[in-house]
Amino acid sequence: MIVNGVPAAESPAPGQCLRTYLRQQGWFGVKKGCDAGDCGACTVHVDGVPVHSCIYPAMRAVGHPVTTIEGLAADDGELHPVQQAFLDAQGFQCGFCTAGMVMTVAAMDDAQRAEPGRALKGNLCRCTGYQSVARALACAPPATAQAEEPEAPEPKAPEPKAPEPKAPEPKVAPPKAAPPKAAPPKAAGPVGASLPAPAGRRVVTGREPYTLDLALPGLAHMSLVRSPHAHAEIESVDTSAAMALPGVLAVFTHADAPDVLYSTARHEKVEDDPHDTVLLDRVVRFMGQRVAAVVAETLAAAEAGAALVKVSYRVLPAVFDPDLAMAAGAPLLHGDKTPGSGIARPRRNVAAEVHGDIGDVATGLARAAAVVSESFSIHRIQHAHLETHAAIGWLEGDRLVLRSSTQTPFLTRDAVSRLFGLPPGQVRVQAARVGGGFGGKQEMLTEDVVALAVLRLRRPVQLEFTREEQFAAATTRHPMRIAVQAGAAADGTLTALAIQTVANTGAYGNHSGGVLMHSCGEALALYRCPNKKVDGWSVYTNTVPAGAFRGYGLSQSAFAVESALDELARKLGLDPVEFRRRNVIRPGDPLISVSEEPEDVEVASYGLPECLDLVAETLASGRGEAAPPEPGWLTGTGMAVTMLDTVPPGGHYSHARIAERPGGGYTLWVGTPEFGNGTSTVHRQLAAQALGTGVDQIDLRQSDTDLVRHDTGAYGSTGTVVAGLATLRAAQKLADLRTAQPLADERAADPAHERKLLEAEATSDGTPRSVSFNVQGFRVAVRPATGEIRILQSVQAADAGTVINPGQCRGQVEGGVAQALGAALYEHVDIDAAGRVSTRTFRQYHLPQFADVPRTEVHFAVSRDPSGPLGAKPMSEAPFNPVAPALANAVRDATGRRLTDLPLTRDRVFAQLNKAGPVKNPDIDL
Ligand code: FES
Ligand code: FES
Repeated sequence: MIVNGVPAAESPAPGQCLRTYLRQQGWFGVKKGCDAGDCGACTVHVDGVPVHSCIYPAMRAVGHPVTTIEGLAADDGELHPVQQAFLDAQGFQCGFCTAGMVMTVAAMDDAQRAEPGRALKGNLCRCTGYQSVARALACAPPATAQAEEPEAPEPKAPEPKAPEPKAPEPKVAPPKAAPPKAAPPKAAGPVGASLPAPAGRRVVTGREPYTLDLALPGLAHMSLVRSPHAHAEIESVDTSAAMALPGVLAVFTHADAPDVLYSTARHEKVEDDPHDTVLLDRVVRFMGQRVAAVVAETLAAAEAGAALVKVSYRVLPAVFDPDLAMAAGAPLLHGDKTPGSGIARPRRNVAAEVHGDIGDVATGLARAAAVVSESFSIHRIQHAHLETHAAIGWLEGDRLVLRSSTQTPFLTRDAVSRLFGLPPGQVRVQAARVGGGFGGKQEMLTEDVVALAVLRLRRPVQLEFTREEQFAAATTRHPMRIAVQAGAAADGTLTALAIQTVANTGAYGNHSGGVLMHSCGEALALYRCPNKKVDGWSVYTNTVPAGAFRGYGLSQSAFAVESALDELARKLGLDPVEFRRRNVIRPGDPLISVSEEPEDVEVASYGLPECLDLVAETLASGRGEAAPPEPGWLTGTGMAVTMLDTVPPGGHYSHARIAERPGGGYTLWVGTPEFGNGTSTVHRQLAAQALGTGVDQIDLRQSDTDLVRHDTGAYGSTGTVVAGLATLRAAQKLADLRTAQPLADERAADPAHERKLLEAEATSDGTPRSVSFNVQGFRVAVRPATGEIRILQSVQAADAGTVINPGQCRGQVEGGVAQALGAALYEHVDIDAAGRVSTRTFRQYHLPQFADVPRTEVHFAVSRDPSGPLGAKPMSEAPFNPVAPALANAVRDATGRRLTDLPLTRDRVFAQLNKAGPVKNPDIDL
């Protein structure tokens, strides 16, 4: 096979797919997102035609020129125009989808470019909401030049390294409608400028290494045996047949696991999560729980070995509904655990609970002129980051090294050390660029079992989740049922606000307490109200575990509370925006959610009124699309507000170092990983600003436990507000040192004297904590006869404090809105009656495609927060939260009916809209 003009060293194996073969040959720009032809991350060209290489037999490509992303640029290094367009428009975040996306676009003709939704339907992006991809498409020169290129070179004699198809001749001028390029800096320094990501060129050329893009000699592969039962006790495991298989090196079972209880969740304080997990347990509590780990010379042998492991189970009664699980007599998931495990009530399947009140809700309701009492159901969704969970481990001397797709390298190092009784210094965890996380990679789902295998076999071992495992055995958002009671006086002043939450944490309680607290906390604290009450339970069931997910519980509570308050405003005949203005928290107010005790958070900056105005004005502007002309459509507008603490409670710490480099410029070391949230860009901007230099002078090293003392990890936007503050402080110290050690010292009389290179370090502990705000608005058209919702206009206004990088921050908002729209409209993890996750592919799950996502107008309030670096606040987690309630409120405005159950898929919308009889429609008779 000729790949990128180079004859391949070996032929494909029989039955091997082209993707596996190409990666085996070292073409790591070819990514794996699904192995089912759904995501496009593996797109390459065969004979100039884009194919999904994961479902393309490698043998079929023999004798045909194959081009991967690495072969798209010209030999002299000039980027293909499409690569250049993605670079100019910064058409990526984590970048895991980008190689495939670029390959597809590079093969599109002008007609396809004009209607990209169809041609790009096979390329999924989870981060950008496709908005920056659309900007890249607008930026790319016409494809005509490529079409006029000669046919692909003869397969038998390709020029060495000649890419196929050839890059067009001299770069074509930009298109008529020039895309917005990176805006020039408005500020005096790099902060405030839409500077590009430092890894951009490597991302668009496929040369940025992700976790598994590493050729390690002697690498063994792991495959996991998973439980076919929702609840069972393992009676015996017979590994003999698997061990007899050629290539199988070891089979690990519960007999090999350390007798240590822990949580897969990573938090600064380990006691924040119940310790209910064992590396390989004797009891399985959900269908898909790992039972054994088979390690072999090849992945194929490991998978074949896993199929031969015979496990005998004693099946136990299972419970799938959290209300039933809390009832007396329900099967107990962790009845064997002691109080020291941190489980709130193991005898009632309650992993965590929260209760609190202020004032008297009953009195507040009695005094109200209007009351709303409604129950809401929020479904289970998946992070669906394109890079699945993966880790490689090896030994350096006696030291264990783990290279993992994690948001928390330092906390993972600490957890692995505890688990195996190793001193932390004997374990090193590093993360390459992470291919998306959204909270899902605040879990330790691969590193523990890889560490076990490496320590026992003393050779490198790799584990990569399949997409099916990702759906069936990684974590999800917590499904919740939330009942809201709210009352207000005739003038709209809130008199009572109460919520009762039942969260389904699945079989393990990772993040159960934190998500529950956070879910109840900010949703209530946002409103001034003398009478508040909360009761919440996070409940074990025999289902796939839930965990941290973008929004950390707030997207669920926001859907319930913002829907209920919208209804209350309507009952009182008040404009929902005006109702919010009257009741939202103001500077100087104590933040009180579930107890009289004010929390350690303050409203230190306040762009909320401006956000409300921006959204109201935009919705009234007449911009956006017109309603469909056919009869039967109703239109309406809706909005919702959310608040987010700038830093999680319970401590978040970052250490940063910066030093002068011998040849000029600086090296900056930080601990937090880059997973598409843009912190690597922001850190360089902050350091350059403090040092009065350009970002090109800052060489960033990150996400390795050997580089700095500690970093709690990437939670919300702590990479910007906590690690960013440590970076800024370190750089400011270095600038001060430079001032104190003036040039005179450098030019010392002794010519042999070399000035000592200066170095500085600093920390941030994430305090004081402040809040940020997001307001989302929609104008929609709804067709009650079919349940169809069309978004005519979408706007989000964000109070992000000082916006360090406007282009990047806008991308985070666009991506957050798109992800939340997918969650609200299409996505759902389904679990069947036996407890099995039945949505196991992107196709079944319905991740939004290019054509599904509307454009969102993004606005930023002018504010500056004293607690953040140069006034910055977080803005990568929060944009998700107000989307679903704003959408439901718009549908309510259009139809007069309140939608209480997510997702708003067409069939469910139809059912919900019509459950009380047909919606009154002026145009059609139902
Ligand atoms: S990995 Fe090939 S389409 Fe997803
Ligand atoms: S940038 Fe597309 S999946 Fe992350």
